[in-house]
Formats: sequence, C-alpha cells, structure tokens
Amino acid sequence: MAATVIDGKEFAARVRGQVATHVTRLKDDHGITPGLAVVLVGEDPASQVYVRSKGKMTVEVGMKSVEHKLDADTSEDALLTLIEQLNNDPEIHGILVQLPLPQHLNEDLVINSIDPAKDVDGFHVSNVGLLGTGQKSMVPCTPLGCLMMLRDHHGSISGMDAVVIGRSNIVGKPMAQLLLNDSATVTIAHSRTKDLADVVRRADIVVAAVGRPELVQGDWMKKGATVIDVGINRLDAPEKGEGKTRLVGDVDYESCAAVAGAITPVPGGVGPMTIACLLANTITACCRANGLAEPEGLTA
Ligand code: GUN
Repeated sequence: MAATVIDGKEFAARVRGQVATHVTRLKDDHGITPGLAVVLVGEDPASQVYVRSKGKMTVEVGMKSVEHKLDADTSEDALLTLIEQLNNDPEIHGILVQLPLPQHLNEDLVINSIDPAKDVDGFHVSNVGLLGTGQKSMVPCTPLGCLMMLRDHHGSISGMDAVVIGRSNIVGKPMAQLLLNDSATVTIAHSRTKDLADVVRRADIVVAAVGRPELVQGDWMKKGATVIDVGINRLDAPEKGEGKTRLVGDVDYESCAAVAGAITPVPGGVGPMTIACLLANTITACCRANGLAEPEGLTA
C-alpha cells in the first residue's frame, strides 16, 4: 500500500488558523496584541526570504510584526543594545534573531542575551535546559512542527523506536529530546554513525535532519515506518532546462514512500510548519507573559 503523504502545508494552515483565533481572543477579551520582532543582520538571500515570509504570516494572523534589518557590519554592542530594547518592550512578546549571523558576531552570546521568556526560537541555554529536564520551556519551531505532525498521525508515540539523523542544536538535539519526553525510544545518528542503514532499519519513526540530499534510502526502511524529512536541499535540474533547480529533502522520496507507512514531502512537508510554530510560540509567550492559560495543542 502506498504511504500516506503527511501534508505539512495543510497542517500549517490549520495551525495558523488556531493561532489567528487566539489572537482575536487576546485582542477582544484582554486588549492585547501579540507582537513578534525579527532581527536580520546582513543580506543573506535565504535569510531575507525567510524573514519576509515570517513578517507576512505574522500580519496575516493579526499579530504585530516588527522587523529590524541591520547592516552586515553591525557591531556586537549595537546588536545587544537592540535586543535589550526589545527585551524591555512590553508590546513585544517574541524575539527572533535570524541565523546565521555574520562571522564577527558571537552567536551564542547574542542568542543568550534574549529574554528566555521571549525566546520564540527556543535556542537560549535556559530553554534548552528546561526542555532537557522536561520543564515548561520555549521549544524550537522545526522540531515542534515535526512533533505536532507525529502526534497528529499516531495519536501517541509512546514506546515507539525513533531515529533522529542529525545532531544540530536547531533540529536534531531538540527533536530527540521531544521524542524522549513523549516516551519514544530514541537513537541519535549522525555523520559518524557506523551503519546508518542498520540503525534506520530498526525505527518506527525516522526524522532526517542532516542536510545531505536524498541520503536516506527505501531499502533502509522498516515497512510501515513514519518518515519526517526536515532537509531542504537545492539541486541543479538540467532536465528542467538550463539553470533550473529542484528542491529535495534528506530522504530519497520515491524509494522511501514505497516502503514507509507515512512520509512528509519536500517541499510542502516540514517547511511550512516552522513558521506556523513560530507564530504558535509567540502566542504561548504572550499568554505566559500575561498570566493567561496557554493555548491547547500549540505547545509541546
Ligand atoms: N535560520 C534557519 N532556521 C532558523 C530558525 O529556525 N531560527 C532562526 N533564528 N534562524 C534560522
């Protein structure tokens, strides 16, 4: 039987709809407009696209969107001063500093200067520690989106064997932690893992987040496994015409879809969930800041 395709585009639209409902409630019942500030340093083209898209969707769900675009040679002091202002701004409930930062800026120092309560990326060491000890935290958006899709598809993932391929701070490590907090049995594999195929073969859930185009093969897959593909890789596609490209994930879609029980496509799988979860995190931060009940289903 063909694998169920998990439609991230449709799922993300549903999450944004829930977020918009909460925004309306916060405005109408409490006179509060949730506010998200995004800081972009430099002119990395991919980052510019992300930031534009974040701003557009923030406004679409009825939130206040503030963008700070700083020159590539902005000093660390100037950036820290801006973050301090945003930390102290009562109209701002979420702060995101787009990564990567230019080389001369210390990424850890910058991220850890964000008020953890406004850290909608969940990258601050306090939030990492809270997540690691199973306490209430802000959760990184991409892994949160993956978790939402897994919970939606399976109901419960308790006791399932999960493999996360990739150990980044943004996806791999928090993903493994979230799966563990939901009582899955978790293996983290990475570029030095000896027999990746063998590790994947044992998994009921495979989350691929290594940044290696079409690495994961169908003949590595346990029949009926659920495959979440976090990769977004742009490859040349001369067959589509000169200079054309195509997007692929970290999973070889055709061969894996033939064996898996469910799979996320690229594009249209995990990607759209990241911004939806950023908006969800902003609602969560806003509710917590105002002592209000947190939205059901939008947090880990
Ligand atoms: N760059 C690529 N992905 C992300 C993300 O999720 N958050 C931030 N801040 N920067 C990114």
